[in-house]
Amino acid sequence: MQDVPKLRSELLAEIETAADLGALDSARVAALGKKGRITELLKSLGTLAPEERKARGAALNTLRDEVAAALEARKSALAEAAIDSRLQDERIDVTLPSRPERTGRIHPISETIEECIQIFGEMGFTIAEGPDIEDDWHNFTALNIPPDHPARQEHDTFYLPGEREGGRMVLRTHTSPVQIRAMQARKPPLRIIVPGRTFRCDDDATHSPMFHQVEGLVVDRTTHMGHLKGCLIEFCRTFFGIDDLPVRFRPSYFPFTEPSAEVDIGCSREGGGLKIGHGKDWLEILGCGMVNPKVLENCGIDPAVFQGFAFGLGVERISMLKYGIPDLRTFYESDLRWLRYYGFPALHVPSLVGGLEP
Ligand code: DAH
Repeated sequence: MQDVPKLRSELLAEIETAADLGALDSARVAALGKKGRITELLKSLGTLAPEERKARGAALNTLRDEVAAALEARKSALAEAAIDSRLQDERIDVTLPSRPERTGRIHPISETIEECIQIFGEMGFTIAEGPDIEDDWHNFTALNIPPDHPARQEHDTFYLPGEREGGRMVLRTHTSPVQIRAMQARKPPLRIIVPGRTFRCDDDATHSPMFHQVEGLVVDRTTHMGHLKGCLIEFCRTFFGIDDLPVRFRPSYFPFTEPSAEVDIGCSREGGGLKIGHGKDWLEILGCGMVNPKVLENCGIDPAVFQGFAFGLGVERISMLKYGIPDLRTFYESDLRWLRYYGFPALHVPSLVGGLEP
């Protein structure tokens, strides 16, 4: 009769040395399969005398359990080894330099937005976002632009067909509706900037039907015009990298701010070219003002307790000025030669400490 300890050591050795899952399965079949060695022995128990059957049955059951456990253990060891070897084969050295022939370029619009985020981020602003498709109330009415207001015509709005929730839907004509959304969503103090796409039905050398703005909004108990001026002067000087850049606030009108101003920076147009900095001329770059109390009220904020300032700037415009890009339309032509020339290195991250530009 088969010697159990000998069988045990043979089976366990076979399992232990199985080199892969296939070999392990053959070992399992050879031991525990229908015609396996343990199975056959168990079947033959019936031919034994009762006393002998009991002792041998117990021994065989223990052996069967032991073999099953060894099979399981070897299986997980093999699976682990398979993962290890795959990790080894597919190893990626993340410290290798990128392949120059595959390097893309960062679009000047992305770069400019990122630079704005860095500058305002340093001042404590956080980023807010809103939908490109807006309802009439957020885009106009809540911003104190009622239905018959001339500003609605000036905005050359793209209206969408049909109505939703009782109002017309539009492609947002500015990022200002996100001011409303932010004030409705959160209690002051607020300090946000909103980079985003905007749309107007206008298309010529200086206008594109899709363009970008960065909106800013600060609301707090003691916010005043001095904060507005300090914040925007600092922004202009840092963005253009000119410490003593002349910045001028010129009275203007926007329905959502009171008082309102437009910001001009100094430049010179001598000799046909445009040069930002000291000079005889001025160039308008953004609109701003103290948030109109009616707008605060529309958002459920008490204008007797809180006041704020807001601003909106055109990303394409400041990008063209800073990087000497002469034609607005080239931004959207996806011309790779243009992008190689005006774009920025793929891994460049603008920062105030490391420098905004590469
Ligand atoms: N929304 C204005 C526009 O698109 C820009 C603007 C002006 C935004 C003044 C403001 C602001 O927040 O205070 O023309």
